[in-house]
Amino acid sequence: MVKNVIHLENVKRYYLVGEFFVKALDGVSLDIERGEFTAIMGPSGSGKSTMMNLIGCLDTATTGKIFIDGENTAGLNETELAYIRNSKVGFVFQQFNLLGKESALRNVETPLLYAGIKPRERKRRAIEALEKVGLKDRMYHRPNELSGGQKQRVAIARAIVSDPTILLADEPTGALDSKTGNQIMQLFEELNAEGRTVVFVTHDRDLGNRCRRQIHLRDGKIEG
Ligand SMILES: Nc1ncnc2c1ncn2[C@@H]1O[C@H](COP(=O)(O)OP(=O)(O)OP(=O)(O)O)[C@@H](O)[C@H]1O
Ligand SMILES: [Mg+2]
Repeated sequence: MVKNVIHLENVKRYYLVGEFFVKALDGVSLDIERGEFTAIMGPSGSGKSTMMNLIGCLDTATTGKIFIDGENTAGLNETELAYIRNSKVGFVFQQFNLLGKESALRNVETPLLYAGIKPRERKRRAIEALEKVGLKDRMYHRPNELSGGQKQRVAIARAIVSDPTILLADEPTGALDSKTGNQIMQLFEELNAEGRTVVFVTHDRDLGNRCRRQIHLRDGKIEG
């Protein structure tokens, strides 16, 4: 087992817009150890989501090296990237990204469906994940029958159901009031205490200060 589950080496992500390059990430090097709890902070447009998407293998770098749990992601094709994404990373988004017509249970089962897990085992593991986030009694509710905080709990259950190495969350409290945001933060703290590596983006100083480690981005670079 590698110690650094996330390893970035001089990573750049440039977008060509018209005739100009936007340097969304401009040479970022970073190591995150197994079990760490890290906040990514920085002004709007500083490259936080870009970095999260690269770590989560939702996007690929223009140049530089990215290792996820010891696996070099450079030069992998879409199928190979999808494999790393599904087996090593759980992703939580600001806007929940749930399937609106499906129950909480079905939403949480989805990653297992893609992983080819059989229905009974799928259901058992999804219920276990929903129990972990305190939502077992809402498993047959659809997203529009849940509060914002509950929706985010379903999204977190979906992110942990495959037991990924890394839990990534891009502004998971951004769409929630501060009390609910605090509860979601508490849940991430619990998941981290159980040994999960958590990386999350926040604009909230108080939430950032609750993390052992903060990384500040500005103009696509790590500050300080
Ligand atoms: N698909 C894209 N095409 C062109 N430019 C992009 C694209 N995605 C992001 N950018 C640019 O890259 C920079 C970094 O964007 P990113 O979304 O990573 O910022 P962020 O730190 O997550 O901001 P926020 O706090 O507002 O979410 C911005 O200047 C943005 O305009
Ligand atoms: Mg963002």
